[in-house]
Amino acid sequence: MKQFLNKNHEADCIKLMAEMPRDKVNLIVTDPPYNASNGGVNNPNNKTGGAYYKVNEKWDKFDNYSDYLDFTRKWVKEADKVLAPSGSIMICGSLHNIGEVIIALKELDYKFINLITWKKTNPMPNITKRTLTHSTEFVVWFAKSSGWTFNYKDMKKYNGGKQLRDVWEFSICQGPERVKGKNGRAAHPTQKPLELFSRLIEMGSNKEDIILDPFMGSGTTAVAAEMINRNWIGIDNNKEYIDIADKRVKNMKSKTNKSLSVFL
Ligand SMILES: C[S@@+](CC[C@H](N)C(=O)[O-])C[C@H]1O[C@@H](n2cnc3c(N)ncnc32)[C@H](O)[C@@H]1O
Repeated sequence: MKQFLNKNHEADCIKLMAEMPRDKVNLIVTDPPYNASNGGVNNPNNKTGGAYYKVNEKWDKFDNYSDYLDFTRKWVKEADKVLAPSGSIMICGSLHNIGEVIIALKELDYKFINLITWKKTNPMPNITKRTLTHSTEFVVWFAKSSGWTFNYKDMKKYNGGKQLRDVWEFSICQGPERVKGKNGRAAHPTQKPLELFSRLIEMGSNKEDIILDPFMGSGTTAVAAEMINRNWIGIDNNKEYIDIADKRVKNMKSKTNKSLSVFL
C-alpha cells in the first residue's frame, strides 16, 4: 500500500483501484463526474447575479443515463474492494447524479448514514428563469458495515456546542482559494470548498487514517487531508489537473499555519 500513499496518480481510477490492495482505505471522499454537461452556457455579462459559466467538460459527458449508471457501478465496485470493512464513503452529487450513486451503493448493501445538504450562500444565478435557482449540492455518506468512524463530539463545534445537523452552509469556492489558470478563469471548473472537504474528513476519519479520492481534480481532498494529518491517495486521469493538485499540496505542505485561515 505504501507506494500509493500521499501521492496523486495519473490513471483511470477503475483500473488503478483494481491494482490496489483490498480493505486498506479508511475513508473515501470523492466528487465524481455528475453527468451534468449538456452543451454549456457561458455568459460573462449576465445581469442576474454575475458572470455565469456552466460546466461543459468531456470528462463529464456520458451518452445516456444507463452509461452513467454503468460507470458509477464500476467505480463503486472497485472502491468497495479497497475500503476497509469499518470504512465509509462520502460522494458528492446533485440532482443530476445522486440517484445513480445511491442505487450503486444500495446494490452493494451499504448502509445509508446521512444525506448531507450543502447549502450554497452564493449560488450561481438561474439564467433560464424556467426553474428555481439551484442552490444546493449533496454528499451521500454510506458505511460498508457497522463500526464506521463518526467524530460526533468534535462536530459540535460547528453548531455552537450542539449536535451538528445535516445541512451545512458554505460559499462556492472563490477568492484566494480558487486556483486560476493563465486566462484568469478557474483552472478546474468544479473545485470544491476546502472547508466542506476538511469537515467531511474530520468527521469520518482519525489522524493517520488513509483517505482515498478516485476523482481528485484540483486536489481539494489531498490538501484537506494534509491540513488535518491524514494519509491520502489521489487519482485523476487528466495530467493538467494532477499538476494543479501536486502544486496545491506542495504549497500547503510548505505552510507553517495549515489551517483554513490561510485562505481568508
Ligand atoms: C468533479 S471533478 C473533481 C473536482 C475536485 N473535487 C476538486 O475540488 O477539484 C471530477 C474529476 O474526475 C476526473 N475523472 C473523470 N473520469 C475519471 C476516471 N475514469 N478516472 C480518474 N479520474 C477521472 C476528471 O478529470 C475531474 O477532474
